[in-house]
Amino acid sequence: MNYPFWDVGVGYGILMAVIAVLHVFVSHFAIGGGLYLVVAETAARRSNDTLRIESLQKLTKFFVLLTLVFGALSGVGIWVIIGLLNPAATEVLIHNFVWGWATEWTFFVVEICAAIIYFYGWKTMSARNHQIVGWIYFWAAWLSLVVINGIICFMLTPGKWLETGSFWNGFFNPTYWPSLVFRTGICLLLAGIFSLAVASRFEAGEFKARLVRYNARWSILGVAVIVPSWFWYWKAIPSRVTTTAAEMMPTPMSSIDVAFWFLAVLAVFLVVFGLLIPRKLHTVVAIVMLAMGLGFFGGFEWMRESIRKPYVIYDYMYGNAVELAKADTYRSDGYLSEIAFRTGNDGADLFRRACRSCHTIDGYKPLGPAFDGTDPDFIAGIVKGTHVLKGNMPEFLGTEEEAALIADHIWARVDQRDMSEIYGLTGVDLGKKVFDVRCGRCHEIGGYNDKTESLAGLAGDEYEDILDNASDYGDEMPDFTGDDVERMALIAYLKTLEEGGEQQ
Ligand code: HEC
Ligand code: HEC
Repeated sequence: MNYPFWDVGVGYGILMAVIAVLHVFVSHFAIGGGLYLVVAETAARRSNDTLRIESLQKLTKFFVLLTLVFGALSGVGIWVIIGLLNPAATEVLIHNFVWGWATEWTFFVVEICAAIIYFYGWKTMSARNHQIVGWIYFWAAWLSLVVINGIICFMLTPGKWLETGSFWNGFFNPTYWPSLVFRTGICLLLAGIFSLAVASRFEAGEFKARLVRYNARWSILGVAVIVPSWFWYWKAIPSRVTTTAAEMMPTPMSSIDVAFWFLAVLAVFLVVFGLLIPRKLHTVVAIVMLAMGLGFFGGFEWMRESIRKPYVIYDYMYGNAVELAKADTYRSDGYLSEIAFRTGNDGADLFRRACRSCHTIDGYKPLGPAFDGTDPDFIAGIVKGTHVLKGNMPEFLGTEEEAALIADHIWARVDQRDMSEIYGLTGVDLGKKVFDVRCGRCHEIGGYNDKTESLAGLAGDEYEDILDNASDYGDEMPDFTGDDVERMALIAYLKTLEEGGEQQ
C-alpha cells in the first residue's frame, strides 16, 4: 500500500454510492437533454412555433444550470472520494487511461462552453448558428460518454487487458459496446421523462397535449433502445461473474428484476398518460414516472457495482486494493513490508489494509458486534477465512502473525464479557447465538453453505468430536475456542436441528 489512509468513521462505499448515483443521473440527463433541445429547436423553427421556442428557452436554463453546475461539482466529488476509498485502484485507472481522461475532459470543456453559448445565444445568435452550437453541445456531451464508458466498463470486464495491458484492449473491453448503446438509451429516456415533468406543469390544452406526446415518444424510444441492449450487455459479462454473483449476492442480483419492473410499469404509464391521455398529465404522475426511471437506472448501477465484488477491477485488484499479481509476495512476506505509510501500530495498519475499505469497527458495516464475546483466536480464524464467509469478501493474503495482529486490534475494541452475559441468554437460546457468531457467518441454517445435513441427528459425543477437531474439517474452519458454557449450549442447540434445515 503506497498511500496513507484517512481513517474517519464513515463508510466510503456509501459516500461513493450517493455521489456517483447523483452524478450519473445528471450526466446522462445532460446528454439526452442536449440532443432533445437541439432536435426540438430545429422542429420548432421549421414550423415557426414561437410558443415552443419560448418553452425551449426556459428549459435550456434549467438544463444548463443543473447539468453544468451539478455535473461538474459532483464529477470532482467522485475523484475526491475514489481517491479516499481506493487510491491504488484510482492509480491503476489513471496509469492506464490518462489519455482517455484527458480526452474526456476536453469534451467536457467543449460541452460546457457550447452549453453556455447555447443558453445565452437564444436571442442574440442567428437560428442557424444557434443550432450548430446546440449540436456541438450534444456531440461533445455524448463523446464524453463514449470515452468514460470504456473506463467504467473496464472495471467489471477488463477482458484481454489482463494479459496484454494494452490501452485499447482495456478500453474496448467485452461490455463496451452494449453498455454504450444501453447508456445512450438511458440518456433518451431521462431527457424524455424530465421534459415530461416540465411539460406537466403547463396549462391543460392543445399545446400541452402536443408537448406531452412529443416528450413521451422520446422516453419510449429510450425504452426501446434499453431493452435489447440490456440483454446484449448481460450476455457480454462472463457467465462466471454472473453465476458467482447470483450465488453470493442474491440481493443486488434481484435488484435488477425490481429495476425491470420499474421500467415495465413506466412504459405502461408512458403509453397511457403520455400518448393516450396527454392533455391531463398531472405533475404528480410525471414525478412518479421520473422516480420510476431513476429507480430503474439506480437498480442497474447498483447491480453493476455489486457483481464486481470482491474485486474493484475484476481478476486484477480486490476491493481493499490488494493486487492479485502480488499474491505470492504477500503470502510469503505479508502485507506489512508493503505498507509505505506505517503508523507504528501494526495491528491498526493491517486492519486498514485488509478490512477498513469495507468495514469499520463500530460505525459503518461494523465488525465489533460480530465479534462481541469471542476471543482473539477465533477472530484470527475469521480473518484468515474471510473468502469463505458469506458476503463475497477478498481472501486475506497476509501471514499468520499478521492475522493475529488484526485479531488483537479488533478484540481490544469489542465487548469482552461472556456471550451469556452480553446477550442475557442461557441454554438452547445461548447455543443458537453461539452458532450464529461462531459458525453462522460461514454456514447459515437453511442458507449459505448450510451444514444442517451433516449436523442434524448426531450423538452427543459426535458433536464433541466436531468441536474438538473443527479445523480438520476445512482449511478455513477455525478451531472451536468458546468456553465450556458456550460449548454445552451450542451442542444443546445443534441437537435441536433436523435434517432438511428445519428446526424443532
Ligand atoms: C471488499 C470489501 C470487504 C473487505 C475488504 C472485507 N469485507 Fe468483510 N464483509 C464484506 C461484505 C460485503 C460483507 C457482508 C455483510 C455486510 O453487508 O455487512 C462482509 C461481512 C463480514 C463479516 C460478517 C459480519 C456480520 O455482522 O455478519 C465479518 C465478520 C467480516 N466481514 C470480517 C471481515 C474482516 C475481518 C476483514 C478483513 C480481514 C474483512 N471482512 C474485509 C465486505 C468486505
Ligand atoms: C471461517 C469459516 C467457518 C466457520 C466460522 C465455521 N466453519 Fe465449518 N466449515 C468451513 C469450511 C471451509 C469447511 C469445509 C468446506 C465445506 O464443507 O464447505 C467447513 C466444514 C464444516 C463441516 C463439515 C461438513 C461436511 O460436509 O461434512 C461441518 C459439520 C462444519 N463445518 C460445522 C461447523 C460448525 C459447527 C461451526 C461453528 C462451531 C463451523 N463449522 C464454523 C468453514 C467454517
